Amino acid sequence: DGVRRRDFINIAAVSAAGVGTIGIVYPLVSQMAPSADVLADSTTDVDVSAIEPGQSIKAIFRKQPLFVKRLTPAEIAEANATPLSDLRDAESLADRTRPGHEDILVTMGVCTHLGCVPLGAAEGENKGEYDGYFCPCHGSHYDVAGRIRKGPAPTNLEVPEYEFISDTVIAVG
Ligand code: FES
Repeated sequence: DGVRRRDFINIAAVSAAGVGTIGIVYPLVSQMAPSADVLADSTTDVDVSAIEPGQSIKAIFRKQPLFVKRLTPAEIAEANATPLSDLRDAESLADRTRPGHEDILVTMGVCTHLGCVPLGAAEGENKGEYDGYFCPCHGSHYDVAGRIRKGPAPTNLEVPEYEFISDTVIAVG
């Protein structure tokens, strides 16, 4: 609606350096110090077009880390080959993505155990034993779809509310 603010993160310029992780991109909202009311109601737009397969970016959504990853075909196949019965928190890749965009995984970068920021979104970081994210605080391993596979975390990395507002831009929140 017209009251919500949209803050656009443009990663195209910084991604020209090639494959790798782009780092933390702060949406404008964090610089403008809006009131808590505005912040709670805000959305964050992320252009996903420059994210290469196998690459993740980190952003900030409502003051928390947000991971946006484009899965490779092999990662999609790996996620879909995992029986739901093997999962502590049974969700398919399709459950965690949007139709027609199963290659784009959007999760909070917040471990569901005690809230540390997992590794794996930046180039060269430990992705854990299941090729996704690894929380070094107490050793939780998340898979390519951000699903908890090993360690103390009880649930999958949270998928926030989001929608594609064009072929290449998601609105989170
Ligand atoms: Fe991540 Fe404990 S906070 S494993």
